[in-house]
Amino acid sequence: MTALDLSSPVAVVGTGTMGQGIAQVALVAGHPVRLYDAAPGRAREAADAIGARLDRLVEKDRLTGAERDAARARLTPAETLDGLAGCALVVEAVVERLDVKQELFRALEDVVGEDCLLATNTSSLSVTAVGGALRVPGRFVGLHFFNPAPLLPLVEVVAGFATDPASATRAYETARAWGKTPVACADTPGFLVNRIARPFYAEALAVHEDRGADPATIDAVLRGSGGFRMGAFELTDLIGQDVNESVTHSVWQGFFQDVRFTPSLAQRRLVESGRLGRKSGQGWYDYRDGAERPEPHTAGPAEAPAYVVVEGDLGPAAELVGLIREAGIEVRPEDGYGAGRLVLPGGGTLRLTDGELPVSEDLVHFDLALDYRAAARIALSATAGVRPSLLSEATGLFQALGKKVSVVGDVPGMIVARTVARIIDLAFDAVAKGVAAPEDVDTAMRLGVNYPLGPFEWSRRLGDTWAYYLLANVHEWEPSGRCAPSLALHRHAEAAEDREGTPS
Ligand SMILES: NC(=O)c1ccc[n+]([C@@H]2O[C@H](COP(=O)([O-])OP(=O)(O)OC[C@H]3O[C@@H](n4cnc5c(N)ncnc54)[C@H](O)[C@@H]3O)[C@@H](O)[C@H]2O)c1
Repeated sequence: MTALDLSSPVAVVGTGTMGQGIAQVALVAGHPVRLYDAAPGRAREAADAIGARLDRLVEKDRLTGAERDAARARLTPAETLDGLAGCALVVEAVVERLDVKQELFRALEDVVGEDCLLATNTSSLSVTAVGGALRVPGRFVGLHFFNPAPLLPLVEVVAGFATDPASATRAYETARAWGKTPVACADTPGFLVNRIARPFYAEALAVHEDRGADPATIDAVLRGSGGFRMGAFELTDLIGQDVNESVTHSVWQGFFQDVRFTPSLAQRRLVESGRLGRKSGQGWYDYRDGAERPEPHTAGPAEAPAYVVVEGDLGPAAELVGLIREAGIEVRPEDGYGAGRLVLPGGGTLRLTDGELPVSEDLVHFDLALDYRAAARIALSATAGVRPSLLSEATGLFQALGKKVSVVGDVPGMIVARTVARIIDLAFDAVAKGVAAPEDVDTAMRLGVNYPLGPFEWSRRLGDTWAYYLLANVHEWEPSGRCAPSLALHRHAEAAEDREGTPS
């Protein structure tokens, strides 16, 4: 099954933000494109707006003048739905309402031929439900573009329950021919990206609600240690708190209120108060004129320890040993069993969080970093009763490695570690349930939400059992089930232990 022929006309219905972007993509790829919008005059305005964007592409030397003129000549607004007769593909990008979309597709079926591919750009409705009322539901598919569609390469190609595999393949190949990176996925709430990304927001909100740290500190740790481009609070302020909350809500409802997708009360109250983020001037942060951005918690200077005893294998934090040596601090290696640890001269222990609470006065946890060498910031966590001299030694150690240090409250799994573990868990769960292939999940999360690594790449780097044990421990402390590892992740860890001959 191949992509649609470039001579085949493509229609875009609903010419708002997404419709215009999708139309531009199909147009620049070479198709004749027809635009239709229910609001009178809107399709013509959209054609003008797309024309202006093509002009800018010419200015930037990304399109020749001749290509622009040819593209403009291929773009036609339609006054009525009947003007879409003869199209080979219709992509719908109207308002996100099931009744409106269903009615539109029923009307479209009377206009287009039986071999016309019908696609919805819905982000949160069930593709199966949108196409459910069609006479020929096999030709109906989800084509989920990301905003701005001309710039973002990812397209989720969603096969509904009744979608004919040939239709899904044709949509997939067509998206690829348009220069996009399609990923195939099944019709489940949030598809791929919006499903697997939920913990990125949820864990930050949970740490904040549990008084683990303030938004500025959590954001700084997610960026400086986790390697994420933006923290969860600043990102949701950019997306719009109402938009982000409504996606969370729809995924949670779509999974029949599965506890793993529980929305946040703190975000609910924020939305109710009208603090929707940048667009309303205030969200988690204040964007009004003159407002100051709060600083993350950053520990004051502390003395570096003279030496560090490294006991056992530090696992995902093993790179620290070399960094400590490079900083001129003596490393005394010792054999050890179980998870590795750093013993500081005062006798206290510093260890990578394993999802347990650091309940002893002699224990400090540090958070996971994507790359300890590149990390600008490291979070430390300890019980309120920790020996102050131990916290100071731990702070001094990371400062000697050139890191800023944020001391956060004792929430199990800290910030980066629990976020990454939960993303990995949802990725394993989705693949085990047949939603998508692991490579497609990795592609989707890197391209759709800019994660520095795909969940499966991350899991391989951290070790096959790491996320499972971290979440199993967090779940012991927070038994709501929200962080409970999935059966798929459990199986993956068991299989890894069987291969390695470790008793499980
Ligand atoms: N905005 C995003 O970031 C984004 C990203 C991915 C997917 N989506 C999805 O794309 C769709 C469109 O979103 P948007 O942000 O472009 O919305 P938008 O409000 O910018 O545009 C919607 C357009 O649809 C038109 N419309 C409404 N009902 C119609 C009908 N019955 N027939 C024809 N036209 C009709 C409206 O006049 C409007 O021009 C939604 O399903 C949304 O969930 C949005």
